[in-house]
Amino acid sequence: MEKSAVVFGASGQVGSLLVTRLSEEPEYASIKAVSRSGHIAKLENLPKVTVVKGDALDRASTEKLCSGADVVFNCVGLPYSSKAWKSLWPPITDNLLHAAGSAGAALIVADNLYCFGPEGNQRMPLKATDEEFTSFGIKPAVRAKIVREMLQAHRAGRCKVALVRASDFFGPNVTLSMIGDRLFPSVVAGKEVKLLEDPGFVHACTYLPDFVRALIAVSNDPESWGRAWHVPNAPAVTTKQIIEKSRSAAGFDGAAKYSVIPPFMRAILGWFIGPLREVGEMSFLFSTDYTVEHGDFLERFPECQPTPLETSLKATVDWYRNDYGRSDRD
Ligand SMILES: NC(=O)c1ccc[n+]([C@@H]2O[C@H](COP(=O)([O-])OP(=O)(O)OC[C@H]3O[C@@H](n4cnc5c(N)ncnc54)[C@H](OP(=O)(O)O)[C@@H]3O)[C@@H](O)[C@H]2O)c1
Repeated sequence: MEKSAVVFGASGQVGSLLVTRLSEEPEYASIKAVSRSGHIAKLENLPKVTVVKGDALDRASTEKLCSGADVVFNCVGLPYSSKAWKSLWPPITDNLLHAAGSAGAALIVADNLYCFGPEGNQRMPLKATDEEFTSFGIKPAVRAKIVREMLQAHRAGRCKVALVRASDFFGPNVTLSMIGDRLFPSVVAGKEVKLLEDPGFVHACTYLPDFVRALIAVSNDPESWGRAWHVPNAPAVTTKQIIEKSRSAAGFDGAAKYSVIPPFMRAILGWFIGPLREVGEMSFLFSTDYTVEHGDFLERFPECQPTPLETSLKATVDWYRNDYGRSDRD
């Protein structure tokens, strides 16, 4: 079957790689790449891809864009701000459920693990079938609310939905992440990495190309819809080990160079620096070993083996060394 897809958030980290990969997929005949500006230079010449203007906050035009689609991907990313998440995620989710539902399309969602909140720390490794969602804080509570709504919409027959979950991203083109441009530019310059969190806990990280492959695998398998899936990650290591391995991939000898901003200093700085305050709410992610169960995913999609850490870190380090700062994300 030749399918048509609509990708919201197509200019972003997930969306742009997803559109590129979909354009190579024989199953897909046409892909609409949506952005609010109507321009995404790096996607405009790809086969089967049309870049279109759209805003998921606009219900009527979102419905029009999704009409005739087989699959709608939600790869929207919002500014890392509690205010934005609280006011924007619920209407965006509702509009996309309505639009995909009206078109009879499946809504495949690029999700994270925030819905488990700090309570999830007691239930490691996190399981995709676990539906004990948090009401903690603002960003975790908002993600829990929209996840509940999407699962309910599927179960009520209003829209076919699948959630595909990642932990913190890393990889080429990944800057907006706990292990993005806060870490790799220093590593490739052989400099000390300044960390906000304890680097001694094991922490699952998701290689972006593995995530995108999983989104496509789920989109191609209707029997897998109606639930969340956790994308396979390479065996989790500590942030300290990530720095060590990346440092070695960048050709430097010796131990990892890092320092940790003390919690009291971070709290004080958080009063003045918005992004630090936002990260503070999420410090539970790095206050224990943070691991993800993905056995059921691999059983269903055995072709989606996680990329070994050595390979993925090497590709990440090479990109930061050669292309970081030169890439445009339009
Ligand atoms: N970063 C991580 O480590 C991580 C890990 C796991 C999961 N996730 C989740 O994965 C998803 C995608 O994340 P990402 O990092 O790829 O996002 P991103 O790069 O920050 O943003 C994706 C795109 O969303 C678009 N967008 C924003 N508001 C929109 C609106 N109202 N209507 C339509 N498009 C809109 C923007 O494109 P235009 O400006 O062109 O419209 C933006 O380029 C998010 O849900 C995120 O929480 C992220």
